Amino acid sequence: ELAHNETNRMACIEALKIAQREHGWVSDEDLCEVAQLLELTPDEVEGVATFYNLIRRRPVGRHVILLCASVSCWVMGYAQLRARLLQMLGAEPGQTTADGRFTVLENQCLGACDHAPVFMIGDDLYHDADPEKLDDILAKYA
Ligand code: FES
Repeated sequence: ELAHNETNRMACIEALKIAQREHGWVSDEDLCEVAQLLELTPDEVEGVATFYNLIRRRPVGRHVILLCASVSCWVMGYAQLRARLLQMLGAEPGQTTADGRFTVLENQCLGACDHAPVFMIGDDLYHDADPEKLDDILAKYA
Protein backbone atom coordinates (compact mmCIF):
# COMPACT_ATOMS: atom_id res chain seq x y z
CA GLU A 1 0.00 0.00 0.00
CA LEU A 2 2.90 2.34 0.64
CA ALA A 3 3.92 1.87 -2.98
CA HIS A 4 0.44 2.78 -4.20
CA ASN A 5 -0.07 5.90 -2.10
CA GLU A 6 1.69 9.25 -2.14
CA THR A 7 1.95 9.53 1.63
CA ASN A 8 2.02 7.12 4.54
CA ARG A 9 -1.11 8.79 5.84
CA MET A 10 -2.96 7.98 2.61
CA ALA A 11 -2.00 4.31 3.00
CA CYS A 12 -3.41 4.25 6.52
CA ILE A 13 -6.97 3.24 5.71
CA GLU A 14 -5.83 0.38 3.49
CA ALA A 15 -3.39 -0.79 6.17
CA LEU A 16 -6.21 -0.81 8.71
CA LYS A 17 -8.40 -2.77 6.28
CA ILE A 18 -5.64 -5.33 5.88
CA ALA A 19 -5.39 -5.72 9.65
CA GLN A 20 -9.17 -6.04 9.89
CA ARG A 21 -9.30 -8.63 7.12
CA GLU A 22 -6.74 -10.67 9.05
CA HIS A 23 -8.34 -10.44 12.49
CA GLY A 24 -11.95 -9.38 11.88
CA TRP A 25 -11.38 -6.13 13.77
CA VAL A 26 -8.57 -3.72 14.63
CA SER A 27 -7.19 -4.19 18.12
CA ASP A 28 -5.01 -1.63 19.94
CA GLU A 29 -2.04 -3.83 19.10
CA ASP A 30 -2.94 -3.83 15.40
CA LEU A 31 -3.40 -0.09 15.47
CA CYS A 32 0.01 0.47 17.05
CA GLU A 33 1.62 -1.89 14.56
CA VAL A 34 0.07 0.04 11.66
CA ALA A 35 1.25 3.30 13.22
CA GLN A 36 4.77 1.96 13.57
CA LEU A 37 4.88 0.62 10.00
CA LEU A 38 3.60 3.90 8.57
CA GLU A 39 5.67 6.10 10.87
CA LEU A 40 2.54 7.77 12.21
CA THR A 41 1.50 8.23 15.81
CA PRO A 42 -1.13 5.87 17.27
CA ASP A 43 -3.37 8.93 17.73
CA GLU A 44 -3.14 9.73 14.03
CA VAL A 45 -4.09 6.17 13.10
CA GLU A 46 -6.87 6.12 15.70
CA GLY A 47 -8.25 9.29 14.11
CA VAL A 48 -8.48 7.53 10.75
CA ALA A 49 -9.91 4.37 12.29
CA THR A 50 -12.69 6.21 14.12
CA PHE A 51 -13.53 8.44 11.16
CA TYR A 52 -14.04 5.51 8.80
CA ASN A 53 -17.12 3.68 10.03
CA LEU A 54 -16.27 0.36 8.39
CA ILE A 55 -13.18 -0.07 10.58
CA ARG A 56 -14.21 -2.02 13.63
CA ARG A 57 -12.44 -1.33 16.91
CA ARG A 58 -14.18 -4.06 18.89
CA PRO A 59 -14.25 -7.83 18.39
CA VAL A 60 -16.98 -9.11 16.08
CA GLY A 61 -18.55 -12.43 15.20
CA ARG A 62 -17.40 -14.62 12.30
CA HIS A 63 -19.78 -12.77 9.97
CA VAL A 64 -20.71 -9.10 10.14
CA ILE A 65 -24.18 -8.11 8.99
CA LEU A 66 -24.56 -4.50 7.86
CA LEU A 67 -28.20 -3.48 7.80
CA CYS A 68 -28.92 -0.33 5.84
CA ALA A 69 -30.91 2.14 7.91
CA SER A 70 -31.02 4.99 5.38
CA VAL A 71 -34.06 6.54 3.82
CA SER A 72 -34.76 4.34 0.78
CA CYS A 73 -34.46 1.20 2.85
CA TRP A 74 -36.49 2.81 5.60
CA VAL A 75 -39.34 3.43 3.16
CA MET A 76 -39.11 -0.01 1.54
CA GLY A 77 -39.38 -2.28 4.57
CA TYR A 78 -36.37 -1.74 6.80
CA ALA A 79 -38.42 -1.98 9.98
CA GLN A 80 -39.88 -5.40 9.16
CA LEU A 81 -36.51 -6.70 7.97
CA ARG A 82 -34.76 -5.38 11.08
CA ALA A 83 -37.36 -6.82 13.45
CA ARG A 84 -37.19 -10.29 11.87
CA LEU A 85 -33.39 -10.28 11.69
CA LEU A 86 -32.91 -9.22 15.30
CA GLN A 87 -35.49 -11.73 16.45
CA MET A 88 -33.73 -14.55 14.60
CA LEU A 89 -30.30 -13.53 15.89
CA GLY A 90 -31.37 -12.77 19.46
CA ALA A 91 -29.08 -9.76 19.30
CA GLU A 92 -29.47 -6.00 19.10
CA PRO A 93 -27.50 -3.75 16.73
CA GLY A 94 -23.89 -3.62 17.87
CA GLN A 95 -24.12 -7.03 19.50
CA THR A 96 -22.75 -10.44 18.57
CA THR A 97 -24.87 -13.58 18.72
CA ALA A 98 -24.25 -15.88 21.67
CA ASP A 99 -22.61 -18.46 19.39
CA GLY A 100 -20.19 -15.87 17.98
CA ARG A 101 -21.55 -16.40 14.48
CA PHE A 102 -22.94 -12.96 13.61
CA THR A 103 -22.48 -9.35 14.61
CA VAL A 104 -25.22 -7.06 13.41
CA LEU A 105 -24.56 -3.40 12.74
CA GLU A 106 -26.81 -0.71 11.37
CA ASN A 107 -25.19 1.27 8.61
CA GLN A 108 -25.79 4.23 6.36
CA CYS A 109 -26.60 3.74 2.69
CA LEU A 110 -24.98 0.68 1.15
CA GLY A 111 -25.31 2.08 -2.37
CA ALA A 112 -28.12 -0.08 -3.72
CA CYS A 113 -31.04 2.22 -2.92
CA ASP A 114 -32.99 1.25 -6.05
CA HIS A 115 -33.19 -2.27 -4.65
CA ALA A 116 -34.08 -1.45 -1.06
CA PRO A 117 -34.21 -2.84 1.53
CA VAL A 118 -30.59 -3.90 1.56
CA PHE A 119 -28.16 -5.64 3.88
CA MET A 120 -24.74 -7.20 3.61
CA ILE A 121 -23.18 -10.24 5.20
CA GLY A 122 -19.44 -9.92 4.85
CA ASP A 123 -18.90 -8.94 1.21
CA ASP A 124 -22.23 -10.36 0.03
CA LEU A 125 -24.95 -7.84 -0.78
CA TYR A 126 -28.61 -8.83 -0.41
CA HIS A 127 -31.10 -6.50 -2.04
CA ASP A 128 -34.88 -6.41 -2.34
CA ALA A 129 -34.58 -8.26 0.94
CA ASP A 130 -37.56 -10.31 2.01
CA PRO A 131 -37.73 -11.03 5.75
CA GLU A 132 -39.26 -14.42 4.92
CA LYS A 133 -36.03 -15.46 3.16
CA LEU A 134 -33.70 -14.64 6.04
CA ASP A 135 -33.68 -18.25 7.27
CA ASP A 136 -32.24 -19.50 3.99
CA ILE A 137 -29.76 -16.66 3.72
CA LEU A 138 -28.39 -16.97 7.25
CA ALA A 139 -28.07 -20.74 6.83
CA LYS A 140 -25.31 -20.14 4.23
CA TYR A 141 -22.99 -18.76 6.91
CA ALA A 142 -21.49 -21.27 9.34
FE1 FES B 1 -30.35 1.57 1.73
FE2 FES B 1 -29.23 3.24 -0.03
S1 FES B 1 -30.78 3.67 1.42
S2 FES B 1 -28.94 1.10 0.16
